[in-house]
Amino acid sequence: MLALGGAPLSSPKQTTTERQSSLFPYYAGFSEAFVRDVLDALQASSDQVVLDPWNGSGTTTSIAGQSGLQSIGIDINPAMAVVAMARLASQKHLTEARGILTNSGRTLSQRFLIENCSSPYDCSTRSLLLLAVFRIARRKLRDRDRLATNPTWWQVDQAEVRRALASITKIQIDRELNELGSKLSGGRTSAPVSLVRGNLLGPALPQIAADIIITSPPYLTRIDYVKATLPELLVLSLVEDFSIEELRRSMIGTPVIGRGPDSMPVHIGDYGKSLLAKIAAHTSKASATYYLAFFSSYISRMVASFEKLRGLARPGAQMVIVVQGSHYKEIFVDLARLSTDFAGAAGFKLVSRADFNFKQSFAQLNPKANGYGMDTAQETALLFKLV
Ligand SMILES: C[S@@+](CC[C@H](N)C(=O)[O-])C[C@H]1O[C@@H](n2cnc3c(N)ncnc32)[C@H](O)[C@@H]1O
Repeated sequence: MLALGGAPLSSPKQTTTERQSSLFPYYAGFSEAFVRDVLDALQASSDQVVLDPWNGSGTTTSIAGQSGLQSIGIDINPAMAVVAMARLASQKHLTEARGILTNSGRTLSQRFLIENCSSPYDCSTRSLLLLAVFRIARRKLRDRDRLATNPTWWQVDQAEVRRALASITKIQIDRELNELGSKLSGGRTSAPVSLVRGNLLGPALPQIAADIIITSPPYLTRIDYVKATLPELLVLSLVEDFSIEELRRSMIGTPVIGRGPDSMPVHIGDYGKSLLAKIAAHTSKASATYYLAFFSSYISRMVASFEKLRGLARPGAQMVIVVQGSHYKEIFVDLARLSTDFAGAAGFKLVSRADFNFKQSFAQLNPKANGYGMDTAQETALLFKLV
């Protein structure tokens, strides 16, 4: 156990048991125990609002809700917004979802999905049904050995997803709901949770005044969150209209760099500048072109994110972020240092940090991006105060 501001903290890394018992296998998720410990360490009180601007599978919103704290989660990935919503479901929602199945035909049709699973982001029953479909579709596609080379890079298209869906029966969905029922903790949610499916850097966020921010930003590992959740996004695209390519381009940390780097902000700090200079000067192929654009885009979006967070937090707000360093070739990319500089430029003063070492598994690695003996890695929790 390590300390942050005096109190002991569990590791942010999910345990194998936690991963196995989770509603959805999100490799980027952090641990429930960590969020609980942070809320205890910060002595969060029931009149405070908790925000996770990169909410992913909704660990922060789920634990804040269970702790009686009002919370808001933002994530650009609609598939993860479904998971975060389903995580709040109670046995009542499960019964409702099973009731919907009882009153419909024997096989799964696109019409069934449109009628019962549209707008899942504010309804636990619809998100639970959709999550059951996600889980079955993922297993069926995995059986076809889609993940032979990289577990976070699905190669699957709409036609294959449609075929997988056509073979799903209502009995299978009912069985899946039963399985999900044994994992639900949402019945313990005792405070309002609102989930925003949207771009942190976009113009359409609601008014938010957070007292506490707990989050982990996208890392610089070149893992593509869209490719990692492609089966679910393809299922979702049958019930709502959105562009998967557009989503991919809008993500922070996306490996898809279109028209060169985003314009570079002024306050990237000396470390950020020297890192970009080292990458630009590296002799390996595409360092001065693609990779420089990739790192510049990430830096530019992260600087803008912290500026945005300043506007979403009350003065004096506390912020805990979990980050993990990575390598570009032999160059160590110290994300804790970069984040401290970017957050500092936006007015968040570093108060303390806690480092956690762990052994990296294949699922956490992007085999194309690594190769420098990275079988052990470090995650760091950074505590800031908005001054
Ligand atoms: C490291 S994950 C967070 C995981 C989360 N802590 C959990 O327990 O599941 C980072 C998240 O940032 C999201 N993200 C990336 N770009 C974003 C953007 N522009 N706006 C909002 N969310 C974004 C990704 O979809 C991803 O779910």
